[in-house]
Amino acid sequence: MSVTKTPAWQALADHAAAARGRGFDTLFAADAARVTACRISVDGLRLAYAFQNVDAQTVGLLTALAAQQKVADWRAHMFAGGRINATENRAVLHTALRQRGDAPVLVDGVDIIPEMRAVQKRMAAFVDDVRSGQWRGATGKPMRHIVNIGIGGSDLGPRMAALALRPFVTGVDVHFVANVDAFDLNNVLDKIDAAQTLFVVASKTFTTQETLLNARSARQWLVEKLGEGAVKKHFVAVSVNAGEVEKFGIHADNMFPMWGWVGGRYSLWSAVGLSLALAIGNAHFRALLDGAAAMDDHFRTAPLEANMPVMMAMLGIWNRNFLGMPALAVLPYCERLRELPRYLQQLEMESNGKSVTRAGAPVQCDTTPALFGECGTVGQHSFHQWLHQGTTPVAADFIGVARDDLGKPEHHRALMSNMAAQMAALAFGQKRPAAPHDNYPGGRASSLILVDDLTPRALGMLLALYEHKVFVQGVVWDINSFDQPGVELGKRLAKGLESGSLAEGSGMEKTVLAGFYDAFLSGTA
Ligand code: F6P
Repeated sequence: MSVTKTPAWQALADHAAAARGRGFDTLFAADAARVTACRISVDGLRLAYAFQNVDAQTVGLLTALAAQQKVADWRAHMFAGGRINATENRAVLHTALRQRGDAPVLVDGVDIIPEMRAVQKRMAAFVDDVRSGQWRGATGKPMRHIVNIGIGGSDLGPRMAALALRPFVTGVDVHFVANVDAFDLNNVLDKIDAAQTLFVVASKTFTTQETLLNARSARQWLVEKLGEGAVKKHFVAVSVNAGEVEKFGIHADNMFPMWGWVGGRYSLWSAVGLSLALAIGNAHFRALLDGAAAMDDHFRTAPLEANMPVMMAMLGIWNRNFLGMPALAVLPYCERLRELPRYLQQLEMESNGKSVTRAGAPVQCDTTPALFGECGTVGQHSFHQWLHQGTTPVAADFIGVARDDLGKPEHHRALMSNMAAQMAALAFGQKRPAAPHDNYPGGRASSLILVDDLTPRALGMLLALYEHKVFVQGVVWDINSFDQPGVELGKRLAKGLESGSLAEGSGMEKTVLAGFYDAFLSGTA
């Protein structure tokens, strides 16, 4: 049965009819303790949702929906290695990568932990070798530049975390190449010295066109400078696909495996995090995993109504499905989190941008909202006009860092007061009937996610929070959050065009596409 036909959903729909009209003045007036009541804290990370259009009844109804959809059972199933990614027949075990002890996790009756620990050990030893200068390049010099070549989940996580954790980066510079547009690669090659550069080719499948093309061009660049023999000292790979890695010309000793049970957009915790670990060192990388493990523990054990990822997920469902908000703005008031919206775009929109249920029927409700974002205060001078006075109210996640260690307290005060001001302006607005252009409708919902300090541990907690939020929403919408079939058709069509043999398509689109390409694009190479 579609979730929209269930009693818990219907109860929320009835409740929303009344809730839609209420303003934040009413909500705050009704409960003097609202600010303190509407928050959940976990180990230095806080979620404050007083600026969401909810009261105790709404929270009760949302929790009932989560319970009805069996979030707790699905959660247990995921942690236990159940094949919840049914279309790909895979377990979903990014949580195992950060679990603290060696408690067995079984996939098809086989404990995956010993092999995983062995890879983590190899990875840590390699990180130490490179960072200590023991690992030398072909000309005998230590590594100064790490270049991660990957795209999507093999790029966005390490790229985002390397910036977020910049104060912890020591000894090397880390660069990222993702786009097949040669500008991206050239831009990095221009800045580095081949003799002191380690390329990390990260691709779960090792078949991704953009990554392989970039990696081949980087390899050619290196060989031209240092000779074929240098590849062994300057290229390593992260993948599940040992055969393709070897075909590419990277030795098996230089390959760090991952597994089918790690989804690309959930893979920062695996060897996909190698470039990050090389930049921040093993202790900080471990702290990142520990932070995620702390959030996993909370997610597994806290009751639904006091469970931070569950609450975030259900607030998102409330805004999307019952209050009709088509988008979520993610607004970190922290320059180091500048890449976070892009990372979350893949996490949320590739996971839950689906329109069929697990059983293959059309979903009867909207699924994930469009996610976009920008750092505050920069976004205030760009799209915040639309947030405040646009015709379509959307929700926002404000993300703040309480402690400032940058030595300029007046900047931090300005940052924090702007963030709080934006939340209040969106919520309460300003009624100016006599000057309509100056009227702010208010009633625009937001949450605040506050970390005490942006440490590796705190970042781990924050990312795991969003991962589990996405999981809960997928469960409630009854969709598979762990496949991404929608990206495949475009890949096949592009390959067909490039090779001049368009096999894809039933007829019309094949002819139109080839004609379009010939008319406008084929001569532009
Ligand atoms: O095209 C989408 C995608 O499959 C993502 O899910 C993935 O993170 C990205 O491509 C890169 O894939 P790979 O790591 O296999 O190169």
